[in-house]
Amino acid sequence: MFYEPRLANHGLPFGPLKAIVTPRPIGWISTLAPDGTANLAPYSFFNLLSESPDIVGFSSSGAKHSMRNAETSGEFVCNLATLPLLEQVNLTAKAIPASESEFDLAGLEKAPSRLVAPPRVAASPCALECRYIETIRLKDSNGVDSKSFLVLGEIVGVHIDDRFIEEGLLQAERLQPVARGGYFDYSWVDRVKSVPRP
Ligand SMILES: Cc1cc2nc3c(=O)[nH]c(=O)nc-3n(C[C@H](O)[C@H](O)[C@H](O)COP(=O)(O)O)c2cc1C
Repeated sequence: MFYEPRLANHGLPFGPLKAIVTPRPIGWISTLAPDGTANLAPYSFFNLLSESPDIVGFSSSGAKHSMRNAETSGEFVCNLATLPLLEQVNLTAKAIPASESEFDLAGLEKAPSRLVAPPRVAASPCALECRYIETIRLKDSNGVDSKSFLVLGEIVGVHIDDRFIEEGLLQAERLQPVARGGYFDYSWVDRVKSVPRP
């Protein structure tokens, strides 16, 4: 089959694009609202985009709380979403008022960050403390502004639960990071193959 996304002429019950670009890592973003409320939400338009500087980005479909808090406070934390936490990850996607915390909604404990103010998810084995860089409003190929915003931040601190490091290497298959697929689908890493470069 072939279709053009602008025409949505795929003839399927749901657009298949997100099932093609999968697995997409999930940035489980914690931020602080101006009133001090700890906000937490998953973003699968998320990735590590650069090293030196180490930059992560997430894209917000509309100006959501995570984006606004990152902009106003200048900080955010990307917690690693893992298989044992999948239910909580999903719960924290619920749209609730800015004055309420998804940490409480999902019964998640906070852990302090070191270099930034937003707390980490205590149960998550890895977290990236980030300083906000900028928000880029995404345009389409005709130069027309969209309602999506790419939020960029520099990783200034990295937390790793030492139990997942063996012989100096982080064991991804033990961390079991979850990723987003299409529809309501998730996948996770539980098998890794090393292929040294030629
Ligand atoms: C696994 C998962 C990934 C998501 N990824 C995104 C995303 O990349 N961008 C987005 O705008 N919303 C995404 N959402 C929806 C947001 O998490 C949801 O709108 C949430 O309420 C936003 O919270 P906030 O306003 O506190 O930032 C995702 C939801 C789930 C369950």
